[in-house]
Amino acid sequence: MELRGVLAQAVWEAAKAAFPQGELDAAAIGRALELPPDPAMGDMAFPCFSLSKALRMGPPQIAQQLAGRIQSPAIDRAEVKGGYLNLFINRLWLARGVLTAVQANPARWGAGLEGQGKTVCLDYSSINIAKRFHIGHLSTTAIGHSLKRIYDFLGWRTVGINHLGDWGTQFGKMIAAYKHWGSREAIEQGGVQALSDLYVRFHEEEARDPALEQEGRDWFKRIEDGDEEALSIFNWFKALTLKDADRVYDLLGVTFDSYAGESFYNDKMDRVINELRDKNLLVESDGAWVVDLADYDMPPCLILKSDGATLYATRDIAAALYRKDTYSFDKCLYVVAYQQDLHFRQVFKVLELMGYAWAREQMEHVAFGMISYEGEALSTRKGNIVYLDDLLQKAQEKALHIIEEKSPGLQDKADTARQVGIGAVLFSDLYNSRIKDIDFRWDRALNFDGETGPYVQYTHARCCSVLRKAGDLNAAPDYAALHDAEALALHKLLAFFPEAVREAALRNEPSIITRAVTEIAKAYNKFYYEHRILTEDEGCSAARLLLTRAVRDVIRTGLYLVGMEAPEQM
Ligand code: ARG
Repeated sequence: MELRGVLAQAVWEAAKAAFPQGELDAAAIGRALELPPDPAMGDMAFPCFSLSKALRMGPPQIAQQLAGRIQSPAIDRAEVKGGYLNLFINRLWLARGVLTAVQANPARWGAGLEGQGKTVCLDYSSINIAKRFHIGHLSTTAIGHSLKRIYDFLGWRTVGINHLGDWGTQFGKMIAAYKHWGSREAIEQGGVQALSDLYVRFHEEEARDPALEQEGRDWFKRIEDGDEEALSIFNWFKALTLKDADRVYDLLGVTFDSYAGESFYNDKMDRVINELRDKNLLVESDGAWVVDLADYDMPPCLILKSDGATLYATRDIAAALYRKDTYSFDKCLYVVAYQQDLHFRQVFKVLELMGYAWAREQMEHVAFGMISYEGEALSTRKGNIVYLDDLLQKAQEKALHIIEEKSPGLQDKADTARQVGIGAVLFSDLYNSRIKDIDFRWDRALNFDGETGPYVQYTHARCCSVLRKAGDLNAAPDYAALHDAEALALHKLLAFFPEAVREAALRNEPSIITRAVTEIAKAYNKFYYEHRILTEDEGCSAARLLLTRAVRDVIRTGLYLVGMEAPEQM
């Protein structure tokens, strides 16, 4: 059941009959089909404007010619409106087609195999060592995880990479601070927070005692040189940070295939430097080595500092080469805030100048906007930080509170609250197109009646409850009973869900899926209010139950694809 394909075929055949000489492209017709602004005008419309030039005919005349020749069991009638050919889908055909198709493989409606044999690397979350996981790293985590599931669903091999920020002079300072004022017990006790406190203290003391700076640098040098003591302290810091982050990842259900971060590339730097040098790309600038990008309207990409240290960009170049070698990816995505736009453009360009055409063709910066919290910008400096474990904790508490009020009799409230609370956070992060800035607000995220996670989950639970109450009904579904406008709207949304999944992958945009499931949930609730599901007519009841089941299954799939669970009761 591929709705667009079936309709496109019908239009194409009509066009071939009407214009035997015309050069027509069936795929282009399929892409051109669109939803009319008002369903009363038709279920799908074919705009004839693009054919006008080739056929030397006005779009309304073309539409006229096509209308008389449309012949398909999928289409009841075709109407001409201006340059548009409006198609009215046969309701019975659609109901039967989409509902049997969903039922045939309920968990995989919208899945595909087009990614088979292809690999996508996804770089997401990529947190920094010795910093607590805060809300600024929510979007990269949520978007990356969702994209991983989406690609997976379409048959790709996916490699999730947490490119840890675990390299830099700050770690030398942290060890110096630890040596002066820290203790094993205090750090074990205080965790990552204790580490960042040490770092803050270092900066305060450094202002008074400039010798500290050198100490920090010395410790960093020792990390770089592989000194045993330095490394063991540093690795301990790293383990602490990851242990902390894992709590958040567990709550979110987020996983990775690799934690190869910046320090992983320590011994892979020479290859990059030598290759850049051999390819005559390195130029000296104030003692440092850079790749000049003036021809591409970008500032130079800094590769080596004057003291020989490599940089963030050098490590990303090494990482790209490593990923290509190791995974031979067909796509490599970087889910990173748009502030790093220039960084990625530079890195991709340098790789391209090195002769790697795949850098232009296969690598993409999947950028996203900033997040604020209850209308306030977040800033580490101003101490205005929201930690993710606190946020998720609070989300579960608030959800529990609402559930206790709404459904006092519900069993296992705590687990439902977990699914709803966490889901609300994820959904609100993924509801708008990723490039937009977002403001996280509790009243919006947890509103059970808005375009929210809880609303969609609630609709799913409603479907489950309808099905539970109906029990076993052995009657054959009477598809003709699903002829009303509300059912039709649902059938169309379900039929287009597979397209939404593909579109989401094509644009690396999970919001297409959050929107699709929201529309399905709204349409189902409308259907539910307008029609009784269980009626005297068993065939009708069976059909409405089948529709309810399909809605439940597709919502569950959609939620899964954006990283959410779907509770059966709420
Ligand atoms: N750790 C960096 C940050 O928090 C993000 C790293 C993104 N990935 C990369 N390959 N550069 O800003």
